[in-house]
Amino acid sequence: MDILLLGSGGREDALAWAMRQSPSCGKLLAAPGNPGIARWADCVAIDPTDPDMVVSLAKREGIGLIVVGPEAPLVAGVADACRAAGIPVFGPNAAAAALEGSKGFTKDLCASEGIPTADYVRTDRMTEALDALDRFGLPVVVKADGLAAGKGVTVAFSRDDAEAAIRVAGDGPLVIEEFLDGEEASLFALVDGDTAIFLASAQDHKRVGEGDTGPNTGGMGAYSPARVLTPELEEAAMDLIVRPTARAMAERGTPFSGVLYAGLMLTADGPKLIEYNVRFGDPECEVIMPRIDGDVAALLHAVATGRLAEIEAPRLKDSVAATVVIAAEGYPGTPRKGGTIDGIEAAEREHGVTVFHAGTARHGSGALLATGGRVLAVTAIGRTLAEARARAYRGVDAIDFADGFHRRDIGWRELARTSA
Ligand code: AMP
Ligand code: GLY
Repeated sequence: MDILLLGSGGREDALAWAMRQSPSCGKLLAAPGNPGIARWADCVAIDPTDPDMVVSLAKREGIGLIVVGPEAPLVAGVADACRAAGIPVFGPNAAAAALEGSKGFTKDLCASEGIPTADYVRTDRMTEALDALDRFGLPVVVKADGLAAGKGVTVAFSRDDAEAAIRVAGDGPLVIEEFLDGEEASLFALVDGDTAIFLASAQDHKRVGEGDTGPNTGGMGAYSPARVLTPELEEAAMDLIVRPTARAMAERGTPFSGVLYAGLMLTADGPKLIEYNVRFGDPECEVIMPRIDGDVAALLHAVATGRLAEIEAPRLKDSVAATVVIAAEGYPGTPRKGGTIDGIEAAEREHGVTVFHAGTARHGSGALLATGGRVLAVTAIGRTLAEARARAYRGVDAIDFADGFHRRDIGWRELARTSA
């Protein structure tokens, strides 16, 4: 089976790496890819959010499976176009991608299906939003409705901050919601229509600074599994949150197909949904792919062709993976671009270490340069988190990237738990 992968980040490098090792994977193309992905795939410079370009490339190359990494092509209807052209695609149609694209859509779905989530008010009138503040007290959460990559969310601890966030949105669509207290964990489920199976748990580190301080980022590191999501909580989240969502989407005639990433708050009342994403997380994908035992390409193909209920459940290795993101100085504000990167091969000589490329470009001279925010995801697998993390940091220390920085405390919550 020849495969076309869409995207150009660390998530896609991990997907390409995993598929390259899959016995069922023949030719592997990536659009547009990056220098890391180019180790496993032939990169083609097309716009992955353009449905016509993607379909015509896939037809020309006789592609048997299209795997969509990021959300933008999904929201743009790329999966719809592939399905219409009869090409199996891993990733939902645009109507089902609304689970990520519109927070209001997801909140309303939760309300009508009785899915546990924070109590909320959805409005596009500023006066109504301000009134809602009285209902929820403090802290309160103000969310812009639309694809905001986590940046449209304000957790306000004072009335002034809440009002300021509402005024920024003006009469734009907003969700005002109850603050949920607890620890966050991510659950990844494979879904095809009304079949949903648990794949893996992970925990991300969204804040730029050590100890979870400073502004939000796309993620500075991750590990999998997240043991805070115990088997009991995982089952509860699948039964109360993920499966009812899959069922409701199928019943409405907009079935979901792909990976559903549930951001959960583990509250005293059980798991509650914070948000859905309709794709693998980045950098969570970098710690999930190394743990999958078996043919990843065949697994994604089974989802894409509606055969999830027929195949054996995916097996995960009894090991822990950790990834440390090296970002460019300035991230998440204005990252410094163009810094040179060396030492990736030395890092990968460390046992269990793979370096995924998130934001790199190859200069004509052959030098590897940083092109943006998150640059590398240095990933390692081990028997324990402590081992995986120690290996990942040995990898990080072997890399020579003067413009880079990273967090030194990836996995601290889990380590504090295991040493307690
Ligand atoms: P979202 O984009 O909805 O995932 O929100 C980004 C981050 O804001 C989440 O990862 C949480 O840390 C935080 N957050 C969102 N909603 C809530 C909530 N209702 N209660 C507490 N924290 C929240
Ligand atoms: N790491 C968070 C995300 O992929 O949305």
